[in-house]
Amino acid sequence: MSFAPWRSHLSRALHRNRSQPYSRYLQLATVDTQGLPANRTVVFRGFLEDSNQLQFITDARSNKIAHIKAKPWAEICWYFTKSREQFRLFGKLVLVTAADLEPALQLARQQAWQKLSDSTRLQFSWPKPGEERVTNPEAFSPPQPSAKEPIINFCLLLLTPEKVDHLELRGEPQNRCLYLLQKDQTWSTQSINP
Ligand SMILES: Cc1cc2nc3c(=O)[nH]c(=O)nc-3n(C[C@H](O)[C@H](O)[C@H](O)COP(=O)(O)O)c2cc1C
Repeated sequence: MSFAPWRSHLSRALHRNRSQPYSRYLQLATVDTQGLPANRTVVFRGFLEDSNQLQFITDARSNKIAHIKAKPWAEICWYFTKSREQFRLFGKLVLVTAADLEPALQLARQQAWQKLSDSTRLQFSWPKPGEERVTNPEAFSPPQPSAKEPIINFCLLLLTPEKVDHLELRGEPQNRCLYLLQKDQTWSTQSINP
């Protein structure tokens, strides 16, 4: 596996903005089952080993799951405030659920779970996301799940980019570069007008 040419720019942005924890927050847009846009903030959880796939985690009971199952297309939009640059990555999402039989993906799911804090792990045992608020406070203090084995509600989400649009506000004039994945799985790189 060779690193995509946009990887070094994204890694540099993550490094330059590392003092700001919210640099790992980005917006992930999907298409809902009516064909309408749906957007939300998620946390970047690093790249899947030996791949250009970005890792996220989510709850198997959340609304986005139905969107992804019907249409796997997604775009993320990520702005780094310190270095003043935006990355838009378009591609397909892969859901890694408890039912996934691919050993490497199941291992990645397990490792993602093990890296979480206890409080984040607990959220996957909260009542179903998006439903009417459960008023019993005990529902939000369930028993602490195992730190080793992910619970069934825990999903790893992978984005396989096919198009990356990198805009740097710094510079007069600004710089914008488009990376496209070709049929032969190599990347084209083109400087475009901002
Ligand atoms: C700073 C921040 C980080 C978040 N991180 C995640 C995350 O990593 N995964 C996730 O599924 N939701 C995360 N959320 C919650 C989502 O934005 C969203 O509310 C939730 O996933 C339900 O979305 P859905 O109904 O479109 O499925 C985060 C929200 C905020 C404000």
